[in-house]
Amino acid sequence: MDKYCVFGNPIAHSKSPEIHAAYAAQTGQPLAYEKWLAPLDGFAATVQAFIAAGGKGANVTVPFKLEAHKLATALTVRAQAAGAVNTLLFGDDGSITGDNTDGAGLVADIVQNAGVPISGKRVLLLGAGGAARGVVLPILEHRPAALVIANRTVATAEALVEQFGALAGPGVLSACGYAAVQGAYDIIINATSASLSADLPPVPAGAFAPGALALDMMYGAQPTVFMQFAASHGAVARDGLGMLVEQAAEAFHLWRGVRPQTGPVLQQLRAKL
Ligand code: ATR
Repeated sequence: MDKYCVFGNPIAHSKSPEIHAAYAAQTGQPLAYEKWLAPLDGFAATVQAFIAAGGKGANVTVPFKLEAHKLATALTVRAQAAGAVNTLLFGDDGSITGDNTDGAGLVADIVQNAGVPISGKRVLLLGAGGAARGVVLPILEHRPAALVIANRTVATAEALVEQFGALAGPGVLSACGYAAVQGAYDIIINATSASLSADLPPVPAGAFAPGALALDMMYGAQPTVFMQFAASHGAVARDGLGMLVEQAAEAFHLWRGVRPQTGPVLQQLRAKL
C-alpha cells in the first residue's frame, strides 16, 4: 500500500490523516497516511527516512513549509510564487517535487463551497506573511476587479505587489496599511496570524460591503474574533476549515490523479470541532 504522511512540529493536532483516510475510502484508493513529527533541526533527515521507508508523498505544515521549499528538487509554478511548499511528491528517481495547494484550496472554498465568484470582485487581503503570499497568485488568476493587500508592516505588502504586480491588470493590485483601507470590499480574507492570539487586524468596519464574504484562514470550535467582527458589520463569516479540506483534496489529486468530493468530509470535520 502506498504511504503518505504529514510532517510538522507539533503534529498531534493535525486533521490531515482523517481527511486523507476519508478521501481514500471514498475514492477506493489504497493508501496509508500517517503523522510524522519532525525534530525542529531535522526536517530534511526525517523526509529522507520517510522516503527510505517507502513514502510516496507528504504534506508539510508549520514550521517546515520554507524548508520543504528548499528541499524540493523541482517546484510547481504556484509553489515558486508562494515561496513555500505544503505538498511533496517523491519520484522513483529520487526527485522531490514541491507544490503549494493552499491558495488553490482557498479559492476552491470561496468559489465552489461558498458560491462566491472572485471574477470582477473587490478583494481585500489582510496580512502579507507566508499565508497571504501563498494565495495572491491563485486569487489573481480569477481576475478580481481589485486586490488590495493590507498589512501592519506596509513594506511587506508592497513587496508582494512588486512580486506579483506584473501578473495583474493595470491598477488591480495594491498595498496599504490598515488605516488607509478605503471603500468597501466583496471578499475580505484574514491571512494574518492575529486570530491565534485572539487579536483582530485593525480593518475599518466600512471595508465590509453588505453581504460581503469574510473568510478567516483560522478555525476552531467558536468563530474567531475576526469572524465575529465581520458578522457584526453585515458580512457573511466563514472559517478556514473549508480551505483545509480543499488544499488536502488538491494534494490528493496531485498524488493519485483522482479528485475526491470535499463536501461530506467538510461536514464530518465540522461536526467534530
Ligand atoms: P504566516 O505563515 O501565518 O503567514 P507570518 O509569515 O509570520 O505567518 O505572517 C504573519 C502575518 O500576520 C503578517 O502579515 C503579520 O503582520 P506584520 O507583517 O506586520 O508582522 C500579521 N500579524 C500577526 N499578528 C498580527 C496582529 N496582532 N495584528 C495585525 N497583523 C498581525
